Amino acid sequence: MCGIIGYCGPKSTVQVLIEGLKRLEYRGYDSAGVCVCGDGPLTCLKRKGKIRDLQGHVPAATDGRWGIGHTRWATHGEVNDVNAHPHLDCEGRIAVVHNGIIENFAILKEKLQSEGHSFASETDSEVIPHLIEKYYAGDLEEAVKKALGLLKGTYGIVCMHVDQPQLLVGARCGSPLVLGIGNEEMFLASDVTAIISHTKQVVYLEDGEVVTITPSGYRTTDMRDQEIEKRVELISWELEEIEKAGFAHFMEKEIFEQPESIKRAMSGRLDHDQATAHLGGLNMSNRDLLNVERVRIVAAGTSFHAAMVGMYLLESLARVPCTVEISSELRYRNPIVERNTLHFVVSQSGETADTLYAMRELQRKGATVLGICNVVGSTIPRESDGGVYIHSGPEIAVASTKAFTSQITVFYLFSLLLGRMRDLSFEAGKRFIQDLQSVPPKIEQILSRSRSILALAEKYCCYKDFLFLGRGINYPVAMEGALKLKEISYIHAEGYSAAELKHGPIALINDETPSVFLVPEDSLRDKIISNMKEVKSRRGRVIAVAVEGDREVEDIADDLIEVPRISEPFYPLLMVVPMQLMAYHCAVHLGRDVDQPRNLAKSVTVE
Ligand code: AGP
Repeated sequence: MCGIIGYCGPKSTVQVLIEGLKRLEYRGYDSAGVCVCGDGPLTCLKRKGKIRDLQGHVPAATDGRWGIGHTRWATHGEVNDVNAHPHLDCEGRIAVVHNGIIENFAILKEKLQSEGHSFASETDSEVIPHLIEKYYAGDLEEAVKKALGLLKGTYGIVCMHVDQPQLLVGARCGSPLVLGIGNEEMFLASDVTAIISHTKQVVYLEDGEVVTITPSGYRTTDMRDQEIEKRVELISWELEEIEKAGFAHFMEKEIFEQPESIKRAMSGRLDHDQATAHLGGLNMSNRDLLNVERVRIVAAGTSFHAAMVGMYLLESLARVPCTVEISSELRYRNPIVERNTLHFVVSQSGETADTLYAMRELQRKGATVLGICNVVGSTIPRESDGGVYIHSGPEIAVASTKAFTSQITVFYLFSLLLGRMRDLSFEAGKRFIQDLQSVPPKIEQILSRSRSILALAEKYCCYKDFLFLGRGINYPVAMEGALKLKEISYIHAEGYSAAELKHGPIALINDETPSVFLVPEDSLRDKIISNMKEVKSRRGRVIAVAVEGDREVEDIADDLIEVPRISEPFYPLLMVVPMQLMAYHCAVHLGRDVDQPRNLAKSVTVE
């Protein structure tokens, strides 16, 4: 969602801000702006549309010694130049960028207006500079703290004042903010991608913390002005990882990275001697694990689909009863937390508000909650009771691909670990490890056929509606295939259990609604073949994703995508790749904005 960057130091502030905003583009946004200051007044420039539109609007001579920038994803007020950030106080001496939602802004705005403040925008965020203006008496940090004390809601903010040269104040409550420490320069950003080209030394702020930076130092305090000692952390990945590396889009690059990212998720975690897995971050002894009677997994979107695959794995391999829930639903239904139930939250970003709040609600009720996350240092891993990083590397495209396969890989590892403590034999554990390790080269084979999937995409992308159908452990993969297609190509698609067809969706079948069937070589194959025949007999077109050499499926389907043979539980990791490629090529062919699809944000930090 919205992105923040702040800078003070010797470099061209405009350049640092614009470059940082470009690196934040992946989060999804609809407008952007910067405010810089040199020796004169604040210069604030904001624009609806892309960063390049803003850039074209910045006069060549504009620069400063400190400044702030923002990409906005509208929540309050339409998408236009005025509602874009930064927002200013009445005199144009204070500028603020804000991520999050101020829930009590209407009351605050009314009061400020009655006191003579005049507002330019329809946003909730604009109350912040006016509150700071009200309380400012020469100390920006103090005024910011007084203003923040009145806010209800969530925020990550950075503020500047024309009279406080090269000083920025940042604060966080529910929206991430990270400090970057450079050589005689400091940065504030909503995520590290914005600053990694300048520094790898960072400090993650916690909720309720305020940071004040100048080029030579920083001070972290709480709202009562107590100093807080913060740990400086080192970002472990390289700048190249957030570059396209010759691919047309980040999504394509990330799809092709999967053989490597899956290997990284397994790396150092397989124990061949004991035929099990080690997941040190769980913070649980074998005895703790033995006491687990149930597992509940909570997540949103693609991570929810990975969680569903996890449920099938845990129940079939570890024989532990498992449920999966959408995080936004769980939080508000007063969930029952039972003793000996282990909870997982799954989130690529580690910042998804629905999942984070669900986790906090579970923890408040006494649950042990483990995170399965990608972004190191994000809020969920920091607040959870333990967990596993998937180590996919930065996922920049809004549509999640490599994170999905790595999240699933972690569920394979956890199911192996738990399974080996229950009724999975040593021999079965050995075979399991072999099968898991055979996945990356098999994905390579699928990726090498990307061109044939491109041809299929060109043939089918003119259709308006699709059904994606799978069964058992591949049912969530069908849901994921439908989500991928709809989010980046804007083609309507639904994912269903193939068995559910006859309970309703079959009414949609005609020659204008193609069905994508996932047909692995498993115990449900014959039943899926029957479902395919039901579709064919109603003039429906069938695209089958099936195992190499499956002639029966080939005879029925209009088009076929082949995947290599593998043992039954591992098909999700193979089946999803053609779905990702199909969605990608459809979107490219239709001229969509593949990496930043309309209305979507990479990490959804508001409810
Ligand atoms: C995936 O393609 C989507 N962009 C979206 O569904 C995403 O998976 C969801 O918002 C959850 O995000 P998280 O994994 O970062 O929590």
